[in-house]
Amino acid sequence: MNLLILGANSDIAYAVGKKFAQHEHADICLASRDLRLLEKKVQDIKIRYRVNAEALFFDAVDYASHNDFFKKFDPKPDGVVLAFGYLGNQQDAQQDFNEARHIIETNFTGAASILEIIASDFERRGHGFIIGISSVAGERGRQSNYVYGSAKGALTVYLSGLRNRLCKSGVHVITVLPGFVRTRMTEGLELPEKLIAEPAEVAEDIYRAYKKPEDIIYTKWFWKLIMFLIRSIPERLFKRLSL
Ligand SMILES: NC(=O)c1ccc[n+]([C@@H]2O[C@H](COP(=O)([O-])OP(=O)(O)OC[C@H]3O[C@@H](n4cnc5c(N)ncnc54)[C@H](OP(=O)(O)O)[C@@H]3O)[C@@H](O)[C@H]2O)c1
Repeated sequence: MNLLILGANSDIAYAVGKKFAQHEHADICLASRDLRLLEKKVQDIKIRYRVNAEALFFDAVDYASHNDFFKKFDPKPDGVVLAFGYLGNQQDAQQDFNEARHIIETNFTGAASILEIIASDFERRGHGFIIGISSVAGERGRQSNYVYGSAKGALTVYLSGLRNRLCKSGVHVITVLPGFVRTRMTEGLELPEKLIAEPAEVAEDIYRAYKKPEDIIYTKWFWKLIMFLIRSIPERLFKRLSL
């Protein structure tokens, strides 16, 4: 199996890559912006799991480069993990639209741009799987992160549509909805310790979802319950909360 990971410097993505290298003996292509960091991961994966691994430059918001980026693959990947994301700063996004745009483009527009190209290839070949990492933040808008949340919400809906389109061609799309995960993204944030997952735990859930296969997973599992409760709060009450 050839696995392409987009945004592979993500702590979660790297843990997923290691799972596929270990259990599927997959060759791994790690694509992201910071090639120096990626090269270290490539060496680690090669030594640990004796699979082929390579690093490629990929920028999710350089839309014009996406066609050429994917055209170069020979053979084409069997599966893609879409992991890039940008939490950004909600306060800054309210003051400066450039920050808001960066959050929206990284989490949604960039994903739609590259996934449309990959989806067409998978559809034509009648083969492949896509694992898209969205977020529980996309399930309901909150004042503390609604720019990021709305971009993730759009990604979740996009992945749902893609799954609907591609299942007819034997291509499976998995939507991953993590809660809090201990990664570079959440470094320095004050989060409830009991609710934080490690990247390796999230990777385990993702790999299990791939094997089953599942359509949508919350990770860790209790976020399904938490989000059910959060979605159930009537809007007239919810709007008064400081979440
Ligand atoms: N951590 C959480 O609590 C949490 C919760 C829910 C959902 N998520 C989602 O899970 C995914 C992985 O996040 P993580 O927590 O593992 O975060 P992370 O360690 O901060 O990784 C995010 C990665 O995205 C890459 N990236 C950002 N902008 C990019 C761009 N324009 N082009 C290509 N790559 C880009 C960065 O790669 P470079 O270093 O190469 O720039 C970075 O390594 C994200 O989509 C995130 O939104 C995370």
